[in-house]
Amino acid sequence: MTSLSEMAVDVLTTADGREKTEKSRRYAARWFAARTAGDPLPVGRADPPLRPSRPDRPELLDPRDVPRRRPGSPQGRIALLHAVAHIELNAVDLHWDIIPRFADTPMPPGFYDDWVKAADEESKHFNLVCDCLEAAGSTYGALPAHAGMWRAAEDTAGDLMGRLAVVPMVLEARGLDVTPGMIDIFRKAGIDQAVAALETIYAEEVSHVAYGSKWFHFLCGRHDSDPRDVFHTLVQKYFHGPLKPPFNEEKRAEAGIPPDFYWPLTAQASEGTR
Ligand SMILES: [Fe+2]
Ligand SMILES: [Fe+2]
Repeated sequence: MTSLSEMAVDVLTTADGREKTEKSRRYAARWFAARTAGDPLPVGRADPPLRPSRPDRPELLDPRDVPRRRPGSPQGRIALLHAVAHIELNAVDLHWDIIPRFADTPMPPGFYDDWVKAADEESKHFNLVCDCLEAAGSTYGALPAHAGMWRAAEDTAGDLMGRLAVVPMVLEARGLDVTPGMIDIFRKAGIDQAVAALETIYAEEVSHVAYGSKWFHFLCGRHDSDPRDVFHTLVQKYFHGPLKPPFNEEKRAEAGIPPDFYWPLTAQASEGTR
């Protein structure tokens, strides 16, 4: 494999989670070693699959049919970790998908650095959460998981700015809102391994949201358009439903997402304008 796009497609078409993340980390190291040596790999061209390969398990269900979690119980905590593992595996694929999917749009090398680094971190997150599941006597695939998680990728497969608006700037920013509450659940239960894994995730996700905001603003600048207006238009086009407060305003600010980007997209705000 000689190009970054070919490596991305190889990750996307690998089904097993541990195998997918092993390739993802190895290819990320190869990309950065070549960058450091001053001899970068070409981005190249390769066709990403519409949907990435996934293992036979977990069974994928409509979100309404996924059993509700009671986080106070051991089973509830396993269900929560399982849901996080599923999100992380999806994130590995999302960060690799953006590279070959939009390779026709010329972008500076730093764009690829950011998504390769994000994919590498998601791979680490998946493995950390799987380790926690295994320590609790479970495994990724033991429970059903949400089927709809790749929808945002399919909806924005032809629109790079839409992809950036919806995936890092809405979905991953939502992760910043909810992760502190999850850390509390595991801290109260005295499960240090899960607290440490979630703290790593929380710290590193800020940069993924920031990469989204950086490149979204870069493209708005290229097209001489107003970032906030474009963000609102694209989220309303591709994201189904209002954004839900409470927001982690501090971490969102750190990631370069100001309040006037997300507050007008809440249900409250749309009621106020009626
Ligand atoms: Fe992650
Ligand atoms: Fe992320």
